[in-house]
Amino acid sequence: MKAIVVTDEAAGTAGMTLAERPEPEPALNDVVVQVHASGFVPTEMAWPSTWTDRLGRDRTPSIPGHELAGVVSALGYGTTGLSVGQRVFGLTDWTRDGTLAEYVAVEARNLAPLPGDVDFTVGASLPISGLTAWQGLFEHGRLQAGQSVLVHGAAGAVGSMVTQLAREFGAYVIGTGRAADRERALDFGTHEFVDLGNEALEDVGGVDLVFDVIGGDIGKRSAGLIRAGGTLVSVVGPTEARPADGLAIDFVVTSDRGQLGEIVRRVRDGRLRTNIGNVADLDDAVAALNPTERVTGKTIIRAHS
Ligand SMILES: NC(=O)c1ccc[n+]([C@@H]2O[C@H](COP(=O)([O-])OP(=O)(O)OC[C@H]3O[C@@H](n4cnc5c(N)ncnc54)[C@H](OP(=O)(O)O)[C@@H]3O)[C@@H](O)[C@H]2O)c1
Repeated sequence: MKAIVVTDEAAGTAGMTLAERPEPEPALNDVVVQVHASGFVPTEMAWPSTWTDRLGRDRTPSIPGHELAGVVSALGYGTTGLSVGQRVFGLTDWTRDGTLAEYVAVEARNLAPLPGDVDFTVGASLPISGLTAWQGLFEHGRLQAGQSVLVHGAAGAVGSMVTQLAREFGAYVIGTGRAADRERALDFGTHEFVDLGNEALEDVGGVDLVFDVIGGDIGKRSAGLIRAGGTLVSVVGPTEARPADGLAIDFVVTSDRGQLGEIVRRVRDGRLRTNIGNVADLDDAVAALNPTERVTGKTIIRAHS
């Protein structure tokens, strides 16, 4: 099968090549999915799990990409809950070959059914951004209706999902990002927008929850904005500063079939809009994943149409 492979950590996304790889075999409780569309997170080349298996052993050449939409083509021994021919979407294991390929083997429990009226391209754009937003707001952030949320990178893949879900839940949403993203963030539903390049973050005042996808100095300064009892949720590692009278939490997204169902239900009924920046075929994936111009939103790679 055709796949994008990486062998050199130092080369980053520029080290991606289109290669021929053996089709994966399903292990116990796995399914093999014929990948129709796949998502990729630009920071994957910096994740240890891209380079090693669960025992820390080198697993190169590895196939990146960890979210997909496609059709189940084979079942592993003992696999239940999904059937051959079923449309699915979801998040694949971090430490195994990923989704920038024609086929991938993945634990069945990591996938959810993809309704027939949701396009594969849309399906592949939802798992990481949608689940991260859901888990950060509702599990880790314990958001309550009426609270205020500061969403960094509100026009980005995760931030746009956070914005929409928080707004639907009845929160007051303040988005941040680059000057060029103001309209896009407001369009996704932020009540206000702070241009981090030209406006003072501190002018926001106190908030109940910060959802940080940027980190560094922005994360550090955000800790001071958390009201008593509030939470700083980070998806870019532990923050250097903690809220004086609140919680600081960093987490890594996990798959959850029920939450995937909640997310796709909202996409179908119009409550949630996905954020796709660019769509390319697997043959053109290396160029698409090494853009020469700024792309806002997710890049989706089509492997089968
Ligand atoms: N822990 C987890 O489970 C988890 C899950 C998903 C994602 N993540 C991480 O979350 C981060 C965001 O992911 P994403 O897919 O949402 O990326 P994305 O689509 O690129 O969104 C990030 C947004 O923040 C903006 N931004 C970044 N730095 C900024 C700065 N200093 N000032 C103003 N705006 C800034 C970006 O603008 P530019 O494009 O111009 O920089 C972009 O609009 C990544 O680091 C990713 O690895 C973690």
